[in-house]
Amino acid sequence: MEPYHPSTAYRRHSMGGGIMDWANQPWPFKRYPYATPQALDDPRPLEAEFWPTLMAWPPAPEATAPPLDRAGLAGLLALAAGLTAQDQSGTYLRSPASAGALYPAELYLCASGLDWLEDGLWHYAPEAGAPRLIRPGNLAGAAAEVLGGPPGGLSFFITALPWRSIWKYRTRAWRYCLLDGGHLLACLELALAACGLAQRPCLAPARNGGKLLGLTPEREVLLAGVSAGAAVENGGPARLPAWQPPREEPLSVREESDSHILAAAALGGSDTPGPALQWPGDPVPRGALRLRPAPPKDGPSLGRVMQARRSRRNFMPQGLSAAQTALLLAAALPETGPLGATVLLGPGGETPAGVYSYHPREKALALLEPQDRRLRAARACLDQAWVGRAALNLVLWADPKRLAQTAGERGYAQAMLAAGRAGQRLYLAATALGMGCCGVGAFYDDELAAAAELPLGAWPLYLVAAGPVKGGPQI
Ligand SMILES: Cc1cc2nc3c(=O)[nH]c(=O)nc-3n(C[C@H](O)[C@H](O)[C@H](O)COP(=O)(O)O)c2cc1C
Repeated sequence: MEPYHPSTAYRRHSMGGGIMDWANQPWPFKRYPYATPQALDDPRPLEAEFWPTLMAWPPAPEATAPPLDRAGLAGLLALAAGLTAQDQSGTYLRSPASAGALYPAELYLCASGLDWLEDGLWHYAPEAGAPRLIRPGNLAGAAAEVLGGPPGGLSFFITALPWRSIWKYRTRAWRYCLLDGGHLLACLELALAACGLAQRPCLAPARNGGKLLGLTPEREVLLAGVSAGAAVENGGPARLPAWQPPREEPLSVREESDSHILAAAALGGSDTPGPALQWPGDPVPRGALRLRPAPPKDGPSLGRVMQARRSRRNFMPQGLSAAQTALLLAAALPETGPLGATVLLGPGGETPAGVYSYHPREKALALLEPQDRRLRAARACLDQAWVGRAALNLVLWADPKRLAQTAGERGYAQAMLAAGRAGQRLYLAATALGMGCCGVGAFYDDELAAAAELPLGAWPLYLVAAGPVKGGPQI
């Protein structure tokens, strides 16, 4: 059987125009009729400076950081997954970007041994700006079984409700669930770093995590998690008795599932969490440009940038300075991962136009093709013309053979999560530089692979466009 990613490729001239059933549109918030969100104290804005928080990656815990409290947790959750704006149609927009603003991703946390928050599993309700307790008890030991590492005071879980995305994108929706999950993961990691907390991400959680969270398997899927804070001595039992999760309202009159998505989500599921993997980068070709990212000395706070981030598409025909290119790329991809990265630059900047491969560890750009390929990329992105006007297009891709060799069947989900995470980080760096940015998940796969000179057999996962825009964000 063809793997999920190529089997959901868009191809020009073979797109069946789908009809959206507006009467059955899924609700973007989880509704538990008998579990009420519990207001924490007013969220404390996270004052950490943006550039040092973003660039010092992976983050080290700060010994001098004040211990987290209720107001700090409220601020952290708001930055990770909270509401930040409302668009003209009345849709609430959130801290992480989301394909079609459908928000399939949900955020949970297990608290243990904190004297200011009851032990148990909490679900974050962005519409209330507060978490609600859905499973009391000390669950840290069980959470550690799912995420690996020792039991921690706070364990966060990111899930997806694919139906929210299937409603619009049909079988391709699993791609968006994973990318959206990566966007939320980036926000959560940055918010944790801003609080000075130790953190350990897990992009391949154990299968039994779904039971811990009370997920209905054909409805909601655990994507990733982060254990945070100091280890706790008594994490409770590693295996928990069966439990009846609280009743939930359906997302819409008729919820649907998709058998291809269920199969893709189950692939490689294991009873143990996947180990943190080493991803060797490709050797840097001779003659590659070595970039020197130098973040501005004074900058806004992380909280301000995350609040101000929006998808902006009104790009101006302007190139980037070498310093801007260096900063955007180092911010998006601070370390090597399960991803290839190709950069399409337009003319008018300090770095000549062309197609480049980006090497995160060495922060190097190697020329693949000295032509401006952005217009071709725009056509490949279902003719979204603004993509061709963005100074920089970052194309994130995967080599399926290498993914399988390194991470087995779990590699695909990890690569997509990593692509979403890089996308969110690029959005934030662009925002802090007063530029625009927008992710693009809708593309004809073969055309984008050709426009970006991807190696034979590579899968394009995500394109993120960034550059100067008219009336950019005021930070
Ligand atoms: C995975 C992903 C794919 C996206 N694809 C597109 C796209 O193809 N075209 C587009 O105009 N916007 C795209 N967007 C941007 C979303 O429409 C945008 O994030 C959403 O409307 C919420 O608005 P905000 O980013 O301003 O918060 C995408 C966003 C994500 C996260």
